[in-house]
Amino acid sequence: MNSQQPPFAPSSGDVPAEQSPPALIDRFGRHVTYVRLSVTDRCDLRCRYCMSEKMTFLPRAQLLTLEETARLGRCFSELGVTKLRVTGGEPLVRPNVIWLFEQLGALAGIHDLTLTTNATQLANYASALKDAGVTRINISLDTLDPERFRNITRIGQIERTLGGLEAAIRVGFQRIKLNAVVLKNRNHDEVVDLVRFAIERGIDISFIEEMPLGVIGDHDRAEAYYSSDEIRRDLAEYFELLPTIDNTGGPSKYFRIADEETRVGFISPHSHNFCGDCNRVRVTALGRLLLCLGQEHSMDLRRTLHANPTDDARVKKAIVAAMDLKPSGHNFDLEAKPVIFRHMNMTGG
Ligand code: GTP
Ligand code: 5AD
Ligand code: SF4
Repeated sequence: MNSQQPPFAPSSGDVPAEQSPPALIDRFGRHVTYVRLSVTDRCDLRCRYCMSEKMTFLPRAQLLTLEETARLGRCFSELGVTKLRVTGGEPLVRPNVIWLFEQLGALAGIHDLTLTTNATQLANYASALKDAGVTRINISLDTLDPERFRNITRIGQIERTLGGLEAAIRVGFQRIKLNAVVLKNRNHDEVVDLVRFAIERGIDISFIEEMPLGVIGDHDRAEAYYSSDEIRRDLAEYFELLPTIDNTGGPSKYFRIADEETRVGFISPHSHNFCGDCNRVRVTALGRLLLCLGQEHSMDLRRTLHANPTDDARVKKAIVAAMDLKPSGHNFDLEAKPVIFRHMNMTGG
């Protein structure tokens, strides 16, 4: 992208189809450079904070095809997006997903091609993902205890996730990050052990405050809230946490641990709202462009793709127009009934 060009901020979306705008800017002046593409709502785990026990998944015929997702990736890259993250559900349960990574990895403007995964299938795919151009991987791991892992994920076996993690480390991505959703009285007492585990492997870790997305029917989210400040306090008893200005383009605020490679990040939607700096949008597995994780503002890109099978300019025009719909931020309230009925597996975070 040419940084000398003025930002392009349409108010009505009436851009001539042939004119390619140089950037995605919303009404609040935020520049969207990061897109999260969900390729499936299915998953081989059932994490308690993410899903209810009995989930009905989408009919496969309604999902975007991988070709359509690749086409969207190309359109976004031509609109100045530099970072793509493939999410789910669990992205690696989607058949042929490596093909999609190969397409996205070949896009000239994409500097960071990333994946969020539960790692159960990573032992099979780590090498192919690296070859396809994946730069970084984030792996969900909330506990090191096999029984707890089974309990939190309802059906998972920790050995599979740990095996996937080790395979990814062997293959050698730029950085690997663990994601741990921290819940009071479920796993909050493991934060020090999780950081030690990350240090031993020279990888990063982010601690996440649970978000009230979808009805999970499991625990009371307000009762289970454990804030980033509490985690920092717990960690400070064992480690010297040094503030950094490191930025992966995501919502984590990172600290370094003195004399170690590992960065410890905090994703704190409740205690330290980061919406003011938001640079991202997401596409659901159904092809809905969601302008905010915590709101319903959206545009149906699947319809646009189908109506314009060869005309990318029309698709880009729709994406540019959608920027006007991006809200200022979420209104998460752990005390209230969930107002967003979409579960996290629809967007992969
Ligand atoms: P990096 O590229 O490593 O910075 O990744 P990331 O933290 O952006 O992505 P990841 O998939 O690891 O997401 C970690 C957590 O951050 C998940 O729980 C996401 O739901 C959450 N998250 C990511 N973006 C947003 C956002 O815009 N708003 C909110 N509230 N949470 C977000
Ligand atoms: N709140 C916060 N994080 C969540 N994740 C899944 N559901 C929730 C939730 N309700 C996390 C997963 C994964 C990331 C994409 O989102 O653990 O690491
Ligand atoms: Fe699957 Fe990730 Fe949801 Fe767990 S958090 S059920 S691994 S999509």
